Amino acid sequence: MLNMNGISIRKLTPEDLGAILMIEKASFDYPWSEKDFLGEFEMKISGNLGIFLDKKHLLGYTFYWLIEYECHILNLAVDHKWRRKEVATTLLKALFHKAQQKKAHIFFLEVRETNVPAINLYRRMGFTVVGRRESYYADGLDALVMNLDLLARPI
Ligand SMILES: CC(C)(COP(=O)(O)OP(=O)(O)OC[C@H]1O[C@@H](n2cnc3c(N)ncnc32)[C@H](O)[C@@H]1OP(=O)(O)O)[C@@H](O)C(=O)NCCC(=O)NCCS
Repeated sequence: MLNMNGISIRKLTPEDLGAILMIEKASFDYPWSEKDFLGEFEMKISGNLGIFLDKKHLLGYTFYWLIEYECHILNLAVDHKWRRKEVATTLLKALFHKAQQKKAHIFFLEVRETNVPAINLYRRMGFTVVGRRESYYADGLDALVMNLDLLARPI
């Protein structure tokens, strides 16, 4: 269980980009660029949450689109040093709470078929695999489509 002392969650801003990009580049073979993140900050349907230690050290983040009752999780990453401490779990729970306040209860995401940590995380949060997108990623790997309906399975 994440020790919540000094932990806070808030919306990110372009001023957080430096810290976001450090985690992003260390987390993905094909990281989002600064331009990708800036695009998300400008898009009306796009939302995000960052989780911080002592309000200044970014530990992880998620970016998503909220469209009526659906929330599509686009990006989620945690600083290497903070992995396996329930940072992502805490962030996802905060996202579920926020999305539900906006009447969204169905969550979708795509995950690389080989990404065992992420697949395990999402399964533990209640997601199930509902489809596969062939050769979805630049390296030819398939994506698993995972889904969670909080009305059908409250957490
Ligand atoms: C996937 C990721 C976000 C998980 O973040 P995290 O904060 O370490 O996750 P949590 O500590 O909340 O883990 C919760 C559960 O997820 C699963 N999990 C997390 N990391 C795992 C690993 N390395 N191996 C196997 N299962 C793992 C476990 O079931 C874990 O519960 P447990 O620790 O009690 O066994 C993180 O590893 C990461 O940033 N990876 C690189 C970016 C990425 O792949 N993002 C997802 C894109 S779809």
